[in-house]
Amino acid sequence: DRVVVLAGGLTPEREVSLRSGARVAQALRSLDVEVQVAEADPALLGVLAADPPDAVFPLLHGATGEDGAIRQVLSLAGVGYVGAPAAACRLAYNKPVAAALVGAGGVAVPESVVLPRTLLADLGGTRVLEWVVKRLGLPLFVKPDRGGSALGARPVTDAAELPEALAVCMNYSDAALIEQRVAGTEITVGVLDLGAGPVALPPVEIVPDGGVYDYTARYTAGRTEFFCPPRLPEAAVDAARQAAVAVHRALGLRDLSRTDLIVDPAGTVHFLEVNVAPGMTDTSTLPMAIAAAGLDFAEVCRDLADQAAR
Ligand code: DAL
Ligand code: MG
Repeated sequence: DRVVVLAGGLTPEREVSLRSGARVAQALRSLDVEVQVAEADPALLGVLAADPPDAVFPLLHGATGEDGAIRQVLSLAGVGYVGAPAAACRLAYNKPVAAALVGAGGVAVPESVVLPRTLLADLGGTRVLEWVVKRLGLPLFVKPDRGGSALGARPVTDAAELPEALAVCMNYSDAALIEQRVAGTEITVGVLDLGAGPVALPPVEIVPDGGVYDYTARYTAGRTEFFCPPRLPEAAVDAARQAAVAVHRALGLRDLSRTDLIVDPAGTVHFLEVNVAPGMTDTSTLPMAIAAAGLDFAEVCRDLADQAAR
């Protein structure tokens, strides 16, 4: 097979994407798969038309890569690709929309408010923020309604921190998703479908050294401690695996996904978000989970590409 790995992009997650792309390309090459790493730029259609690959492996994170745009282009070009279809990505990438659909599917979702930039300006900041705090209480988590790698996302424990958190958030998107911050254990669960239906990988517990799994904690080796299996009762771990598969199914995802969750002290699993192009860097959790499942990372990448080529 010949595979085009898409990496880079113009989002703030460009560097992460280049690292993910390089790792997957290296894995595929170790199995003698012919790989070309390409950018999603105006030359892409030419690259695909000149020598159509058997499959494309999109490792673009964030806008274009995970919002369905590039996958729509690949569909129009008639090229098979790894991962969820464009329409499913559009739903999954929009955090409030994904939360609504996942909640309807029976998974617990934090109480939240979506605040568009325009509304915040029109109603006058302070009154709106008072209303948000009255409605949701504290602590909160403010995040861009679309985005990744925790960029523009931060916890808020005091109402006075809300204006700055929103200002930072609005650098990344035109709307903020403000959620009640659920206390508990942060875990992430990869889902793989290698042809026999979606199966949850071993969950990974995330313990960042500063308490918040921010960009630096995600991509600097040693800044976050991982526990696989998580230090949780078996019933909670099972519930998390079921939740991740339920998310994958509810949103119509395909091939692979990774769902981020909080398990509260009572064992209830709460949905945070889902990634349709999960990070594949050296510090990313999906490759860890693949290894913990006893699978070979390179073989999984090759199987996913084979599946997309069919
Ligand atoms: N958005 C990054 C790449 C991740 O969740 O892995
Ligand atoms: Mg994410």
